[in-house]
Amino acid sequence: MQLIEGPDEVRAWSRAARARGERVGFVPTMGFLHEGHLSLMRISRSRADRTLVSIFVNPTQFGPNEDLDRYPQDTEGDLAKCREVGVDAVYMPPREAMYPPGAQTWVTVDGLTGGLCGRNRPTHFRGVTTVVSILFHQVEPDLAVFGEKDYQQLQVIRRMTRDLQMPIEIVPGPIVRESDGVAMSSRNANLSAEERAQAVELNRALSWAEEQVDLGVIKLLELVPEVCSRIESQPLASVDYVEVVDAETLQPVIGELTGPARVALAVKFPSARLIDNWPLVPGGAGEA
Ligand code: PAJ
Repeated sequence: MQLIEGPDEVRAWSRAARARGERVGFVPTMGFLHEGHLSLMRISRSRADRTLVSIFVNPTQFGPNEDLDRYPQDTEGDLAKCREVGVDAVYMPPREAMYPPGAQTWVTVDGLTGGLCGRNRPTHFRGVTTVVSILFHQVEPDLAVFGEKDYQQLQVIRRMTRDLQMPIEIVPGPIVRESDGVAMSSRNANLSAEERAQAVELNRALSWAEEQVDLGVIKLLELVPEVCSRIESQPLASVDYVEVVDAETLQPVIGELTGPARVALAVKFPSARLIDNWPLVPGGAGEA
């Protein structure tokens, strides 16, 4: 497995692979890798000839009072996991390689970024789309894999690649969960034992909502407040949002469920803010 630090080197690596007729798959991450990340690497390996993973804790997607300084890191552990999965190269750029001194250019996607996490994290998605654009320019992959765990991020990246006509296939990866149903996240490491135990209610409340839809409940006024109160029955959990949105446009679904939707939530615990989501399909079972 090759370790790459510079943008010129990563571009040369990718171009050499493509010159050999190989398809390059790319999995961008912020490290502290877990089974959710590894599942995306396996998807890339199954669809591309070469897989490159980036590890970069991107400062521009963190707000001023967010957890950039507390974001967990474990480079040695991450490299061992990548090696085990059979990743071909890991790109770990220093900050200067991503943002030249005096950088003042942003890539922004309107509309899709206004609701859900964008409402309380107003600069988050422009940080994500800017860094992913820079990485795409450096890596020039044929395909890139993003997890449905960050469902809004996946839709925003899809929109960006379409709008900017980037010749990159965006491949979604399903949410990977712990055995008790909690969605895997690097931020779970920051939770206390008590918070971690209470976090189970996020997934329970979402799967309860799905069951209700399977039973024929489509009135959101009956669903959403109950999801909120189930989560807030946990003393350390404070709901940031629970929303049902159209699965593609992310526009809020008002009143009744009529087509494929996603129930998405963000919940603040004292030590970390967690997100999760679940498909809601009226008249048919979701997955996840
Ligand atoms: P990070 O949170 O490290 O996640 C990297 C990728 O792993 C994202 O596509 C995310 O959706 C996916 N992922 C995380 N947890 C997952 C889970 N439990 N199941 C499936 N996939 C999961 O997302 C980012 O980093 C950054 O915003 C990034 C895209 C790298 C830009 O900085």
